[in-house]
Amino acid sequence: MKKTILTGLRPTGNLHLGHLFGAGQNYVKMQDDYEFFLEIADVQALTDNFHNPEKVRHNVYEITADLLSIGLDPKKVHFFIQSKIPEIAELTVFYSNLVTVSRLFRNPTVKAEVAQKKELFGKNGESITYGFLGYPVSQAADITAFSGEVIPVGDDQLPLLEQCREIVRKFNHIYGDTLIEPEPKLSNFSRLKGLDGNEKMGKSLGNAIFLVDDKETISKKVMGAVTDPSKIRKDDPANPEICMVYYYHKLVTPQNELETVCKECKSGKRGCVACKKELIHNLCEFLKPIQKRRKQYVDDPKRITEILEEGTNLARKRATENMKKVKEAMKIDY
Ligand code: TRP
Repeated sequence: MKKTILTGLRPTGNLHLGHLFGAGQNYVKMQDDYEFFLEIADVQALTDNFHNPEKVRHNVYEITADLLSIGLDPKKVHFFIQSKIPEIAELTVFYSNLVTVSRLFRNPTVKAEVAQKKELFGKNGESITYGFLGYPVSQAADITAFSGEVIPVGDDQLPLLEQCREIVRKFNHIYGDTLIEPEPKLSNFSRLKGLDGNEKMGKSLGNAIFLVDDKETISKKVMGAVTDPSKIRKDDPANPEICMVYYYHKLVTPQNELETVCKECKSGKRGCVACKKELIHNLCEFLKPIQKRRKQYVDDPKRITEILEEGTNLARKRATENMKKVKEAMKIDY
């Protein structure tokens, strides 16, 4: 029997290279060896986008197309929409008895997000909503509704996983052994730096290269990338290890070419503009097959709807079975 993977993504924007190197490539590798449930977490996205439902709706399809474009096979991965699984909402209510409000306030992921979203939740988080504060509980429901065993996540999600494990232990302690305690699986490449030198590539940081970006967009972004500040003239030698252009070359440039890039940079034989142009070319080549596959799906939007429907039906079946066990354990199986 294959183990079950469950992971989720908030549909709030397109995937960028950070998602691909940090998570997506790992998903592609894992899809053969696990029963793989992939949740498009629209309800969770609404916890901080409740005022913007069109954005969430639109991105359900965008993010599904992005995930398919990187090579996830809908025959192997069950794509499903969170809001179509009412058992998740039901479990969230049951689990909310097992979590204290102060524990949620202390969750580092929640704290960090509240600090980032001042215009939504107030300068000191005084306007935080019940729904946002409680999303870790809902995420525990996401995982356990499908008895997810292995949860591939970035390190920013570890406090949410820990919170889920606590809920599972408490549930099993009170109501008897029912739920499986999930294990996080960290990808070995958890953070991709931004072209601006920021420690993280992120949509909100404005430094991301999206999988759907065309050459013109990529050119603009790469031309503004941070290079070794000590290099002033074209033929000054420089240190590639502190250059964001070289950092991205390492991801997409073939090995022999990469060695040349490094050597020429160190010896002052290569100007930054030429080096950036080469990177732009290589990034476009790298994204070409991804964008080609994406186009095949996008040109046939019915196919995307079908994939979501099939995955959601299967996920719903699994959730219904688990719900039965939960209700029996809680003595509410009338
Ligand atoms: N919180 C995750 C994120 O922001 C998305 C998510 C929703 C998730 N449900 C999940 C991740 C369940 C892992 C398991 O990226």
